[in-house]
Amino acid sequence: MFVIKSPVTETKQLQENIFLQKIHCPEIASVIKAGQFLNVRVLESTYPLLRRPFSICDVEDDYIYLLFNVMGEGTIILSHKPEGALIDLLGPLGKGFNTEDDYELAVIAAGGLGAAPFPFLTKELKDKKEIKTFVGGRSKSDVITYGMINVSVATDDGSAGYKGTVVDLMRENLQELKSKKIKVFACGPTPMLRAVKEFCVENDFNCEVSTECAMACGFGICQGCPIESANEKDKYLLVCKDGPVFNIKDVML
Ligand SMILES: Cc1cc2nc3c(=O)[nH]c(=O)nc-3n(C[C@H](O)[C@H](O)[C@H](O)COP(=O)(O)OP(=O)(O)OC[C@H]3O[C@@H](n4cnc5c(N)ncnc54)[C@H](O)[C@@H]3O)c2cc1C
Ligand code: FES
Repeated sequence: MFVIKSPVTETKQLQENIFLQKIHCPEIASVIKAGQFLNVRVLESTYPLLRRPFSICDVEDDYIYLLFNVMGEGTIILSHKPEGALIDLLGPLGKGFNTEDDYELAVIAAGGLGAAPFPFLTKELKDKKEIKTFVGGRSKSDVITYGMINVSVATDDGSAGYKGTVVDLMRENLQELKSKKIKVFACGPTPMLRAVKEFCVENDFNCEVSTECAMACGFGICQGCPIESANEKDKYLLVCKDGPVFNIKDVML
């Protein structure tokens, strides 16, 4: 795990409110895995006090990429970082996706900003497995397909692609999904992850989800990010250390 100040080399607005930030950080680029995250101090000062967690979106040679939407103070500051500004990164943190299981088709399901970890996962998988990607959003402007391949889109309001949720769209494709040995990789808001879990349990699909919650330390010290274990009553796991990626069998969503 590194604590390192690295220069921003580009901050690009991909679509309304969505930014892609490129950072020169060979130390982290050479070791980080898809699904892991960084805890970012956005300013040197004590305000904002806490670091902000971001998934690793992509890695290209010595560069890493973050994909974020502007939510509050931290992401406003990040979105205005000029070229050459240093940002303080802590990571790699957490457990990423397990890509080594026995399956032929990787099914990626992303809801809104849940797209963030998938460009890197797609890069890791694309020479080894077939990939099918389902991307959803409330409407067209929430749909992020950056860095993904073989994409089908769903929007709640029907402004792009299939009208319905991303899980409804997966159900529409059930026969195709059942015709292969698949593994589902999902990230998005908790209600979407619950629906993905239900769908995968019903159909006996192996599935990992990348979860989110408020965090402070990012590495297991503050106990501030509990998620209920599905295997042991009254037992809690830590999203930052035991996750953020979990097999759906292991956690209550
Ligand atoms: C493991 C992990 C990975 C993440 N990866 C990404 C990513 O790749 N891209 C990205 O854009 N975001 C990601 N997030 C969420 C991101 O950390 C928050 O959006 C960010 O901290 C907001 O900081 P802020 O200072 O801009 O907003 P704040 O001022 O801290 O918050 C603004 C508003 O957003 C709400 N909020 C803050 N965090 C979250 C959250 N996690 N979920 C829902 N609402 C929240 C707050 O309650 C508040 O209402 C991730 C979170 C986790 C735990
Ligand atoms: S954020 Fe501190 S223990 Fe998880």
